[in-house]
Amino acid sequence: MGSGKRICITGTGSYLPERIMTNQDLEKLVDTTDEWIETRTGIKERHIAAADEPTSAMAAEAGKRALVDAGVAVEDVDVIICATITPDRILPSTACYTQHRIGAKNAFCFDVAAACSGFLYALKTAEGLLVANGYKTALVIGAEKMSAFIDWEDRGTCVLFGDGAGAVVLTVGDDSDAGSRGLLSSVIKSDGEYTDLLTYPAGGSETPASEETLKDKLHFLKMGGNTVFKHAVRCMGAAAEEAVSKAGLTKDDIDCVIPHQANLRIIQAISDRIDIPLGRFYNNLERVGNTTAASVPLALDEALKNGRVKKGDKVLFVVFGGGFTWGATVVEI
Ligand code: UT7
Repeated sequence: MGSGKRICITGTGSYLPERIMTNQDLEKLVDTTDEWIETRTGIKERHIAAADEPTSAMAAEAGKRALVDAGVAVEDVDVIICATITPDRILPSTACYTQHRIGAKNAFCFDVAAACSGFLYALKTAEGLLVANGYKTALVIGAEKMSAFIDWEDRGTCVLFGDGAGAVVLTVGDDSDAGSRGLLSSVIKSDGEYTDLLTYPAGGSETPASEETLKDKLHFLKMGGNTVFKHAVRCMGAAAEEAVSKAGLTKDDIDCVIPHQANLRIIQAISDRIDIPLGRFYNNLERVGNTTAASVPLALDEALKNGRVKKGDKVLFVVFGGGFTWGATVVEI
């Protein structure tokens, strides 16, 4: 980082809604099978938020848990950044709703929209605020209610996604902290050439909501899955290697890889490409599906709570999503 400051993850939290939807449940909705979904994606079930549970409700729950975990008082939060592509409303930000729900009166709040890469974009933004702008505590959240933006008649997308939230508390490392604990490196990239491959075609300023757009279901997520798949493997593999090398490490130094949980076949291909065995990856997509921006912080919280990731471990996050956006971050926990 060069500033002498270490930006550390000092607490994590997550939230999954109560209702579970299995592949068998989906067999009743669209022309699919449990076997197809599991062999093509690795997903068996996902959580679905309640009708009265918007994204900010899940973000707030994950955020509160992260603050408790970090031992940070809610008044001490300087900034809340919420990564989401399923905001409560287009205006105002989901981060503002979340602030109100948790009572973080002293924070300034905004959203980051970088699809499945949103959490790493938010982490990088928070790091900059803490390193160069004098803020001390950031609450960085990835939260999604994908179920509200999915066409439940489109088998190409509805079997993939789930709802949930994950959060981390970032603080400026104390000088007494041993070692190099904290965010070690990150690589963040975008390529706007591919905007049409993962998008909500209507409901924005380009094509405002109309009877026609509703009839054509243009407010729901559309994805060119196969092309996205190929780009994801190539871009995530390259970003992971760049982030490890930027941190001055080799692949053997990485204790755990937490990839975006989109598809087990993508994760397997990345493992082959960067030559880190699948056994060193932490995956939970079997139980939660693709929770977009919530994917990495949700998995990180789980991995810390179940002991798969321990203090001192070097963890590699690697993500890919709509935009296209992608990136990788190495952190010493
Ligand atoms: O999170 C952001 C990033 N997103 C991703 O990384 C997702 C990347 N893409 C993928 O994970 C995969 O492309 C999918 C899981 C979405 C699709 O898997 P695929 O192996 O690429 O399948 P495909 O799209 O090439 O479709 C193969 C066949 C097609 O049938 P035909 O044309 O061969 O007869 C599809 O219609 O599978 C069919 N198909 C299904 N069949 C049963 C597509 N979805 C389903 C389904 N159940 N749910």
